Amino acid sequence: MKDIIQKIDQKTVVIGIVGLGYVGLPLALEYALKGFKTIGFDIDERKIPLLNSGKSYIKHIKADKIKKVVDSKKFFATADFSRLPEADAIIICVPTPLNEHREPDISYIENSGKVIAQYLRSGQFVSLESSTYPGTTEEILLPMFENAPITQMSKVKGQKSKVKPFVVGKDFFLAFSPEREDPNNPNYSTATIPKVVGGVTSNCLKVALAVYNQVIVKTVPVSSPRAAEATKLLENIYRSINIALVNELKMVFERMNIDVWEVIDAAATKPFGFQAFYPGPGLGGHCIPIDPFYLTWKAREFEISTKFIELAGEINTFMPYYVIEKAAEILNNFKKSLNGSKVLILGASYKKDIDDMRESPSLKLIEILREKGAKVDYNDPYVSKLPKTRKYQYDMESVELSKKNLAKYDLVLLSTDHTEYNYKFIAANSKLILDTRNAFERAGVNSEKVFKG
Ligand SMILES: NC(=O)c1ccc[n+]([C@@H]2O[C@H](COP(=O)([O-])OP(=O)(O)OC[C@H]3O[C@@H](n4cnc5c(N)ncnc54)[C@H](O)[C@@H]3O)[C@@H](O)[C@H]2O)c1
Repeated sequence: MKDIIQKIDQKTVVIGIVGLGYVGLPLALEYALKGFKTIGFDIDERKIPLLNSGKSYIKHIKADKIKKVVDSKKFFATADFSRLPEADAIIICVPTPLNEHREPDISYIENSGKVIAQYLRSGQFVSLESSTYPGTTEEILLPMFENAPITQMSKVKGQKSKVKPFVVGKDFFLAFSPEREDPNNPNYSTATIPKVVGGVTSNCLKVALAVYNQVIVKTVPVSSPRAAEATKLLENIYRSINIALVNELKMVFERMNIDVWEVIDAAATKPFGFQAFYPGPGLGGHCIPIDPFYLTWKAREFEISTKFIELAGEINTFMPYYVIEKAAEILNNFKKSLNGSKVLILGASYKKDIDDMRESPSLKLIEILREKGAKVDYNDPYVSKLPKTRKYQYDMESVELSKKNLAKYDLVLLSTDHTEYNYKFIAANSKLILDTRNAFERAGVNSEKVFKG
């Protein structure tokens, strides 16, 4: 342990980041910008040359940062995992989606674990950051790493019996530390968000804190990796449930002719005991629609059903259908049917001002609208062409928001409230608008053409 702590103190510790996505890339940049030699590992061969030439493939991660660390030779990306032993600290940031049965798909963690075990050397520290169910670090990764020398030597005939398993906290160090990235939030970045850390042993925790304290403003130690894993799930479940609550209230209040956004804004003036959450067309992003179900799955092993999580999931999953019902109702009031209508969806990404399309409700809205016979287009200043996702493959390109184009559509449906939209211009030039975010009113538009829902 002394070796790695000394290297951290002397700032000669080499960082390896496995998975250079929305989480891994900014973390790699933090270390490299602080002067640590940082190696990025990814299986996506397309990203490697791009990053090594100082370019970014994520809109809100600026290329000049990448260029700076590439030019100063503090960072490079590679798909060659045999270079893993060059890193003293390895941080895993790979995806944790759900499979087609909405069960955890931890194959990315398992694959990263296997390859790290294949090259694990004495003295290395490994931290998992991917959101996952409590127990993953100790149940999946720990046994792989303990048996790493046996795995490595099993290829050499006759040597197997002489090799001793690694001891955690002595031969290698293992921790879980959940990521809390909020893409494009101007107030918080990877370095300024406090980070929860749980080590398998007290030595593991010490090393983990020393590694993270180099770049993170504040580390928050907890007693175990499972406590850290559970913390991340609590944070995301809390959001999922509160969003479901306001989505349900939106539907109830609408029947009562009460504006849910007005009510939330009024309630938010209470200086304690209330946090504002806002309704929308459905959940999006890599975390909130997915992570809660990691706990649901794990809880079954303990014969517990997670009713709150399931209920919230049910309500949130229904929201795109509710929005389309509302769209049909608006058109109906103007003697039109969805079938045959031209609909323009504004905003394709799952949240405003970013280009991240994962689990975006806009994709579901397109699917339902098409099923009902509508002709659908979209506009998104951040997404020029709809990318292929795990579930959807649309061949669609963003249409220009011109006067002439807007006038073509029977209904404009605002799904993502990008800041750069000119809401007054859109309202002035559209026939009918369905606003799922209350963006038009917030922009000061007061028009009979705009309906909330
Ligand atoms: N995006 C967020 O805002 C956010 C926030 C908090 C937590 N998380 C969690 O962080 C984790 C990573 O999310 P992300 O958004 O960065 O995902 P991402 O899809 O943007 O990036 C993951 C990267 O890992 C790479 N990868 C996959 N398998 C690999 C392997 N075996 N070895 C090396 N690289 C591999 C992929 O090619 C990709 O570049 C997930 O568990 C997610 O739930 C994400």
